[in-house]
Amino acid sequence: MDKLVINGGHRLTGSVTASGSKNSALPLIAATLLCGNGTCLLERIPDLKDTRTFRELLAYLGADLSYSGTTLRISTRNLQSIQAPYELVKKMRASIYVLGPLLARFGRAEVSLPGGCAFGPRPIDLHLMAMEKLGASITIRNGYIDATVSSGRLHGAHIEFPISSVGATGNAVMAASLAEGTTTISNAAIEPEITALCDFLTAMGARIDGAGTTTLTIEGVPSLQPASFTNIFDRIEAATLLAAGAITKGTVTVNGVDATHLAAVLKKFEQAGCTITIDRDTITLQSPETLHPTDIIASPYPLFPTDMQAQWIALMTQADGISQIIDKVYHERFNHIPELNRLGANIEINTNEAIVHGPEQLTGTTVMSTDLRASACLVLAGLVAQGTTEVLRVYHLDRGYEKIEEKLRHLGADIRREHYQEFSR
Ligand code: EPU
Repeated sequence: MDKLVINGGHRLTGSVTASGSKNSALPLIAATLLCGNGTCLLERIPDLKDTRTFRELLAYLGADLSYSGTTLRISTRNLQSIQAPYELVKKMRASIYVLGPLLARFGRAEVSLPGGCAFGPRPIDLHLMAMEKLGASITIRNGYIDATVSSGRLHGAHIEFPISSVGATGNAVMAASLAEGTTTISNAAIEPEITALCDFLTAMGARIDGAGTTTLTIEGVPSLQPASFTNIFDRIEAATLLAAGAITKGTVTVNGVDATHLAAVLKKFEQAGCTITIDRDTITLQSPETLHPTDIIASPYPLFPTDMQAQWIALMTQADGISQIIDKVYHERFNHIPELNRLGANIEINTNEAIVHGPEQLTGTTVMSTDLRASACLVLAGLVAQGTTEVLRVYHLDRGYEKIEEKLRHLGADIRREHYQEFSR
């Protein structure tokens, strides 16, 4: 396994470019399953563990893929399987994104149930509800979702989500694009990744109205055509890099970002005392000498993202006072806190909120990654900790951050990757 070894205490300065978004790349790749003729071309697809797993999943289904630079070409003309096996789904919950496209194109899909998640329950009932509304019959058998459409083709329906779900909205839009008739989706997720998916589907010939709003109307079409699409930049990676500037009292510029995607996060950086300058697709963060404590409530877009909650907690360990952190999307997403406390942070968890008492001088030790954003949070803490921090199980980080240590090194961090053997008892 790999670990990151960080010698903290360096002020980060300079500029880096954000990679393509992981969380839009995955549904974009899934959407190519809807197009039975020709080759789709996706640009700015990051080379990450999760995008590799998704490519592997499509190859397993029989797709023909080639990846060069950040360009991914996919032909799903000759698919041979409608089954997403446990071996791949267990590596990545987002594999559920193949459910809608396979059902819509073939009238049949078998997708392994994703299983547990490191930060609490992550059900898939809304995905299944949406597919049932569109005419699928679903049974759960031997750990698999077995979904069939008796008439062969899904039909339009009204789908009302009781809560906002990125994945269920994505699955519903993809499935409805090939369904017979009109589908309306109420309380649709409005994350930029869903808007990007709608834009790609539209480029393929789907008829979607209301992209970027909570009500989507989809006029199903009999088939979709191959299309080219450039993925959006990764707003969470960009925000994490800005946080690296903020926590080290540095000045960091991230290129290639749509600042509107980060409005809520940038506002919080400003409340914390950082100076934010936006110039077209470039954001510069200049850190104050003293960070102000700043509360956040992680919620669906356009509010503060849950995927920045852990990194924000790391930042607040350096603020002068008490900050309250609530996550309304994943109430139990606090696995990073015991590890941060091992680095010397003073954070309490009261049921669904974290109370961060800052500022604390963190001191380096060995810490364990438990999930993707928890790992990013520990890396940020390592950048400011006195001495050496070793972040173990970096494979979590590799799921969603492309060349993170290179980018941080470029900004002046003392960080390196090392291989290690984990002892088993
Ligand atoms: N939910 C249900 N039932 C469902 C689906 C979701 O109750 O069928 C609940 C979830 O448990 C959660 C809330 O709805 O409380 C929102 O979950 P959502 O479906 O929006 O999450 P997701 O689509 O599974 C994506 C990202 C996550 C990100 C969330 C929230 C991808 C591949 N994953 O997950 O990203 O945290 O949206 O924004 O897009 C990450 O990148 O680290 C990550 C976990």
